[in-house]
Amino acid sequence: MCGIVGITSNKPVTSSIINSLRKLEYRGYDSAGIATLYNGLIDEVKCEGRVDNLEKNLVNKNLQGNVGIGHVRWATHGVPNQVNAHPHSSERVSIVHNGIIENSTLLKKHLIRKGHNFKSQTDTEVIVHLITEYLKKNDLQNSILKMLKRIHGSFALGIIFKDQPDLIVGARRGSPLAVGYGPKENYLGSDSYALKSMTNKISYLNDGEFCILRKDHVEFFDENGNKVNKKILELSSSEENYDKGDYKHFMEKEIEEQPITIKNCVNEYVDKANGDINIYNFPWKTDEVSSIVLVGCGTAFHSCLMAKYWFEQLTSLDVTTDIASEFRYRKNRFKKDTLYIFVSQSGETADTYAALDLCKKNGMKTCSVVNVVESSIARDSEFVLPIHCGPEIGVASTKAFLGQMLVLYLLCLKIGSIRKEIDRKTFLDKIKNLSLLSKLVKNTLTTETQIQAICNSFTDAKGSMFLGRGYSFPIALEGALKLKELAYIHAEGYPAGEMKHGPLALIEDGMPVVVLAPRDKYYKKTISNMQEVIARGAKVLLITNKSKDEVFSENIWEKIEVENISEDLLPFLITIPLQKLAYYTALKKGYDIDKPRNLAKSVTVE
Ligand code: F6R
Repeated sequence: MCGIVGITSNKPVTSSIINSLRKLEYRGYDSAGIATLYNGLIDEVKCEGRVDNLEKNLVNKNLQGNVGIGHVRWATHGVPNQVNAHPHSSERVSIVHNGIIENSTLLKKHLIRKGHNFKSQTDTEVIVHLITEYLKKNDLQNSILKMLKRIHGSFALGIIFKDQPDLIVGARRGSPLAVGYGPKENYLGSDSYALKSMTNKISYLNDGEFCILRKDHVEFFDENGNKVNKKILELSSSEENYDKGDYKHFMEKEIEEQPITIKNCVNEYVDKANGDINIYNFPWKTDEVSSIVLVGCGTAFHSCLMAKYWFEQLTSLDVTTDIASEFRYRKNRFKKDTLYIFVSQSGETADTYAALDLCKKNGMKTCSVVNVVESSIARDSEFVLPIHCGPEIGVASTKAFLGQMLVLYLLCLKIGSIRKEIDRKTFLDKIKNLSLLSKLVKNTLTTETQIQAICNSFTDAKGSMFLGRGYSFPIALEGALKLKELAYIHAEGYPAGEMKHGPLALIEDGMPVVVLAPRDKYYKKTISNMQEVIARGAKVLLITNKSKDEVFSENIWEKIEVENISEDLLPFLITIPLQKLAYYTALKKGYDIDKPRNLAKSVTVE
């Protein structure tokens, strides 16, 4: 959360910083700011709200300078307003910060006693005053080292100094930070995405490291101030993927892209010639693994839950799922024969990263399923399975969810076939079905007009429920999450069979309830559960797949039929109408679809 950019150059940097901040807005968008150094003075412009506001504020102010830092904020300490927006400055330094300083209250008391005046409610401001204090008696490097030793918590920092004309300091602990190399200029960014429009040459800081950037030179140091050599990596991804094209929103584009992203992913992993799945360099023998733990947050957690059903159905492995924020504080039973799989679109989610880190410290086998292959989670796990779906910019995860499920399904097939728990014929049948998936997702995307009409009933709803059993249960959770985060409607995802144990009490006359009942082995049971909610006045939207057999139930309010495919792949198809339902309901309510309130794309705080 929060985005950081810094540029030191031989030319003015304001407009490049603004461009990068626009790219970083997916990380936080409740306030923004920029500071530059010009003629020995630090000047800053800050605002509440988006980068657009910042740009308007800049019209009346000619912010000059060849060195600068910028920030987009997702508030943790202090309300989102202009005063709390970053950068925060003293007479000597200006700082942008991503993360949380856990001992800020104590440090603040100490600094106030020493005569420092605080202007904001943020934890960040203690860093400003700490460095200012240390600079009184120490050189720059020692001041940084001392400051880093005093602060606890997670952070990525960008710092400029009044008396250092072409210099930016970057430092990280917990939160990611990247350095980019350009012609006669160098960059600092909270991820490589912000830097990609300027360079494809990137280095990443490891935890505890700091760096000193000058326009023609970058140095890296460890937490004790010893110099560190860094590899420069070349990134491949091209700029045009980040464009909305003719779509109104990134989310809409990303939903519509799913047939292509699925096709790409299948092509990457499925070896058609040999009837196999290209996961050859798996670092462990299958007899070294007898259980799997899948870990993720939010949508990524839902794909973990989906994978549990597949692994249990197709292999004899013990499979458990864990919400990453719960994982790290429990007393986990780490066992040598367990494979830990971390699922994350961004690869930067703090809770998921912390869970990975804990597993590594306990000597566990770690594998990640990520979209951003340069991310911290990808870099630090032993084995990486990319989902190949290209940048996902809309805050609500859509194509990445399908991509995560697809890769986990492929991994399940591969492991099941190596362990000889999936016979050759079944394996080949399943691979064949996968080759149909992209086309069927495409056909399912055409339920547009029907969904738009259905949305009218959701816009006025105070609450709603999403019900499913078996393979459809994780999708019910995902459908509810999408409606909550985009349309701000309370939505509860629930196992349909559990309704009678309490939640049936919530059903009121006219309450919209989405029932996921594809014609799989749970179908008849789910239809019975559906009748129970209809009997209590619910307005049921049934999502099932096409069939010659009529649905045997009366009083269904609306029905959407997706295409047909094997039972285990139906979850991909029934997800599509749910994504559209959330999208169009939010659109009708006039909400900001790509940047819903109180959220951010990359959650790098605990
Ligand atoms: C929901 C959503 C979030 C993320 C979660 C994990 O649409 O986007 O719930 O899924 O924050 O993010 P990643 O996958 O980046 O670890």
